[in-house]
Amino acid sequence: MEGSAVEIPCQADPSDGLAEAKQDHYAEYLAKVNETNDVQATEDICNSRGVLLVKAGARIDQGVAERILQHKLIKPLEDQVALKDQIDGDKLAGHFALLARRFSDIARINRSLNFEAEFKTLIHFPAVSSCLCQKITVLMERLPEHFEAGLFGGWLGALVAREMRLGKDQIRAAFFAGLTRDLGFLHIDPAIVYKQGALTAEEWRAIMSHVLVANLFLSNLSCVTQEVVTAVVEHHERYDGTGYPTGRSGTQLSTLGNIIGLVDTLQALRMKQFAKRGRNLMDARPYLQLNVGKHSVPVYEAMMKILKKSGLQMTRTQGDELAIVAARLQDRLVTLQKVLPVLEQLIKLSSELPRLNKQGRSSSVVATNVLDMIQRSGLNQDELIDWARGVENDPQTSDVDEINEMELLANELIWQLNSVHRACRQFCEEQGTNSAAMVRIEAQCKLLGSLLSPG
Ligand SMILES: [Fe+2]
Repeated sequence: MEGSAVEIPCQADPSDGLAEAKQDHYAEYLAKVNETNDVQATEDICNSRGVLLVKAGARIDQGVAERILQHKLIKPLEDQVALKDQIDGDKLAGHFALLARRFSDIARINRSLNFEAEFKTLIHFPAVSSCLCQKITVLMERLPEHFEAGLFGGWLGALVAREMRLGKDQIRAAFFAGLTRDLGFLHIDPAIVYKQGALTAEEWRAIMSHVLVANLFLSNLSCVTQEVVTAVVEHHERYDGTGYPTGRSGTQLSTLGNIIGLVDTLQALRMKQFAKRGRNLMDARPYLQLNVGKHSVPVYEAMMKILKKSGLQMTRTQGDELAIVAARLQDRLVTLQKVLPVLEQLIKLSSELPRLNKQGRSSSVVATNVLDMIQRSGLNQDELIDWARGVENDPQTSDVDEINEMELLANELIWQLNSVHRACRQFCEEQGTNSAAMVRIEAQCKLLGSLLSPG
């Protein structure tokens, strides 16, 4: 293999493992789009040695994509192809309107905060920068969930920026950063991006590389400001230093990076935890309160103000569901109780290792934070489990709010414990079990996994 059109920059720390996604897979996504929406080479496409690979006018079908995939190109593929139908500001606004129709909390917030007209202007600006339209179209056609996440992120990012009283340019930059933050996925092996089920450590590293890949191509676009690029690169960093790719924290992160980081987390919460239960953004309040150190104070406060002004109410558990929710809550509380000593053991064992790489340090910090959150929340106490059992046996409507809030907190903690488990598994895979300490860490990691997913 000769190389690739997109390579991870050499400044990427190899210990991040982010240098996995060396090959650019954009041609494969284009070939799939081409099945329903013509994708044509607008000029002769040559490899880095000047050898002609694809003639101008040719369609980018599967065979052509496979040929391109084997070569490093002389210039980025996106600059040498055109789509027959491409998204523009009008279409994007139409997609946002559909999203707001499907999720009434989005419509409610937009109305209550009087953001509708301003957002329409943003989403059309100017025809959503035509240089980005190709990528956004491919994202919409091939990774619709990420496209929807982009729409949500652009909208909420801009709204948070406005609530923080940032200038018009920064509000616009927040919109673009939210919209484009996951375009990097379009360069990662589709076999990994579409994979169902658990990813290996190597696959996770490829997934995490989407921020660095986005950095490469967004930096080359004249319509994208450096502020937007930085926010996209930072959208998985967290204020407490537990994010990636650099683990930077606090004021080392840009204001927009902090905003898009919060928005990205809320989107994940909506899709992975709220969607099935019909919950709304107000249900994210316990998450925000629990994770207060994960986001910068002005961003956190702006988000809380938006929720307050929206007039949304937390989703209420229906009376006839109360016993079921109380039973489920008991299971989660028991799990939280059982994992506490495992977490303590993991933290202790990792502190005894002679050297921890970045992955290990980050896992240990996240585990310590989650342990602290469980203890602060008090959800591990016997009295609470007894109370939930009492509600299950004799459900009263006066218990609804408390049960609801506790379930949200417990769900969030279980979610975070799953992240700790994943990071720990990745750390064990990377380090191997060539020492007694690593053998013990791996055993605790397995125990944590079995407690979180019994059977
Ligand atoms: Fe992302």
